[in-house]
Amino acid sequence: MKALILVGGFGTRLRPLTLTMPKPLVEFANKPMILHQIEALAAVGVTDVVLAVNYRPEIMERVLKEYETKLGVKIHFSLESEPLGTAGPLKLAEDILAKDDSPFFVLNSDITCDFPFKQLAEFHKAHGDEGTIVVTKVEEPSKYGVIVHKPNHPSRIDRFVEKPVEFVGNRINAGLYMLNTSVLDRIEKNRPTSIEQETFPAVVRDGQLHSFDLEGFWMDVGQPKDFLTGTCLYLSSLAKKSPELLVSPSEPYVYGGNVMIDETAKIGKNCRIGPNVVIGKGVVIGDGVRLQRCTLLPGSKVKDHAWIKSTIVGWNSTVGKWARLENVTVLGDDVTIGDEIYVNGGSILPHKSIKANVDVPAIIM
Ligand code: GDD
Ligand code: MG
Repeated sequence: MKALILVGGFGTRLRPLTLTMPKPLVEFANKPMILHQIEALAAVGVTDVVLAVNYRPEIMERVLKEYETKLGVKIHFSLESEPLGTAGPLKLAEDILAKDDSPFFVLNSDITCDFPFKQLAEFHKAHGDEGTIVVTKVEEPSKYGVIVHKPNHPSRIDRFVEKPVEFVGNRINAGLYMLNTSVLDRIEKNRPTSIEQETFPAVVRDGQLHSFDLEGFWMDVGQPKDFLTGTCLYLSSLAKKSPELLVSPSEPYVYGGNVMIDETAKIGKNCRIGPNVVIGKGVVIGDGVRLQRCTLLPGSKVKDHAWIKSTIVGWNSTVGKWARLENVTVLGDDVTIGDEIYVNGGSILPHKSIKANVDVPAIIM
């Protein structure tokens, strides 16, 4: 089986993290985001994964090379000279996607869920039409592509509306598809094309697009607030399905569960950690530190008595003693927060040193 992952876009909404790291490589629950997807694809027998990229493939190539042999998949980098949107990259990779006549998976690179690839493939085969979109329900559908059904059919889609201004429904495109190779004939070569605005509406008009309901959690983790929410959902799901991947709730410093700590991290005395905390490779936590609803990326350091909530601490950053970070604060790579500093919703660019409080949400450059 084959798959294409849409990896382009500049990840601007996940700044300042994406100023120094391509979005797909940002660690989500201690693993590059895209690796969660490649592993799930490999698990159902996908052998060829195309990564559709439009910038800096070198870092990704280097990081992902080792997984090709580990997972038994061939990873192809398909580089656009100009961004081709969400459909153009499929056409660009036509040689690989259409090499046999079987359908292929397409994924947005910034979503987390229990990837239902096996069930999706079975469902797609059973209805026999050109495409299947995985759908999920959300409270705020205006940020997404919304799906409306044919009134008298269980799965056939009647309308696909990308980022609707007016309410049309709350079942949205989860960013996972299975498509027949015939969909490639609908996409023009070498022109930026949107699968959501151009290709799907055309397939819908021909009555060839179906929806498949996703079970369990789902989140687009392409912006910091949602990245933190997505992490909570993912850890809660792990707590039920694979609790061995989390720290045992009986550890004295674990509070409220859902805590994941890389084995190379060091934790000080008398800390209180949780719920919903991810601590990455080589992280050093001092004594008496309080952490909740946060991700500490590899190489970061939190000094004694710091208090951190709803925050992403970037690679190799340092948080000072008695510092307090909250309200979707994001530290880029190599940021230093001084002792006793308060940061409320700050987005701090890489290599900055913060010596004065950030009392209201702001970007600090
Ligand atoms: N290769 C390539 N080239 N990839 C691209 C390009 C491009 O020019 N533009 C965007 N992408 C990739 C992004 O990296 C992401 O993985 C995916 O395409 C979707 O782009 P986003 O920018 O994240 O779109 P969105 O989140 O606003 O909306 C999309 O995702 C929603 C679900 O999260 C749409 O597909 C919506 O319909 C959907 O509901
Ligand atoms: Mg997105």
